[in-house]
Amino acid sequence: MSVLTQKETLSPETLEDFLPINGTDYVELYVSNSKQAAHYYKTAFGFQSWAYKGLETGEKDIESYVVIQDKIRLVLTSPLHSDTPIGRHIDKHGDGVKVIALWVDDATDAWEQTTARGAKSFMSPTVEEDQYGHVVRAGIHTYGEVIHMFVERKDYQGPFLPGYGEWKTNYNPESTGLKYVDHMVGNVELGKMNHWVKFYEDVMGFTNIITFDDKDISTEYTALMSKVMSSGNGRIKFPINEPAAGKKKSQIEEYLDFYEGAGVQHLAVATDNIIETVTTLRDRGVEFLRVPATYYETVLDRVGHIDEDLEPLRDLGILIDRDPEGYLLQIFTRPVQSRPTMFFEIIQRKGARSFGKGNFKALFEAIEREQELRGTL
Ligand code: FE2
Repeated sequence: MSVLTQKETLSPETLEDFLPINGTDYVELYVSNSKQAAHYYKTAFGFQSWAYKGLETGEKDIESYVVIQDKIRLVLTSPLHSDTPIGRHIDKHGDGVKVIALWVDDATDAWEQTTARGAKSFMSPTVEEDQYGHVVRAGIHTYGEVIHMFVERKDYQGPFLPGYGEWKTNYNPESTGLKYVDHMVGNVELGKMNHWVKFYEDVMGFTNIITFDDKDISTEYTALMSKVMSSGNGRIKFPINEPAAGKKKSQIEEYLDFYEGAGVQHLAVATDNIIETVTTLRDRGVEFLRVPATYYETVLDRVGHIDEDLEPLRDLGILIDRDPEGYLLQIFTRPVQSRPTMFFEIIQRKGARSFGKGNFKALFEAIEREQELRGTL
């Protein structure tokens, strides 16, 4: 624990990062129909077929499709029988994120460092191999039933992971320009935000880079609090939300009620051209939250000059925010499964490294209008 006690005397640059993370390796969702989910992510979001594991590859109990778009890899997994841990996960939570896999150079060290600091092990370091080489994976538990899997793949040349075959198909819709996972947000139970902030600080060596309290994020009805945790090198960012007291049920409480516990609220994925990306996503059936047209009457007074024309941003419902380093463009989808739980954010950063605080009020009012329609406000 010496690293932690040295924190006050050492500048951030001289602190040793005991858990260097290269990036997000993959995100695995447990879903009730992996075959159809894969088709949805290809058709609607522009992911490409990449790898497959199932009966045809000798797998007896589960089926997983891996879809890819630039650096983003989604694994969509369903059970093949009743009464399985995956089936129970789906029964309780609906479709949702089970694994946030982190790409590291040394999975054994990552597991040893984090478990020594108090993480509960999900899987001890395990070597998996096939004709393409070997991968080492190890996992720890985080909030809810979510797992962080450490993936060491420097000695592997296969398409995804050992046990997966290539997934070849004649149906390959074009990419929509999504490039990498910008951040992934967790919703945790009332009063638990600081517990998980401390977990990411103590166990994973992350730092709290931004805090929003209920004064930043509140509407007439609902409120939430959020702290953004960042890995040492800044490549991984995990905002953690908890509900705050309001007159009506907050969107975080709605999530916790329908997910039946803490879990991943949204995946933010980056594009270099949000107007083109969102136009394509909309044409392919992805549904987005809308803010009132009045948002665009004053937005440029708030954010100043931007390179884009306002017209297409208004037409698509894309939001704009600025911080001292630049600005960002962002938009949020409606939930992507039956339950009002997980959704996607599409984000284009033009210098800004923040998360769109200036849009929170308009955005949450838009969410509340949808909650009203669902009868869950
Ligand atoms: Fe976000």
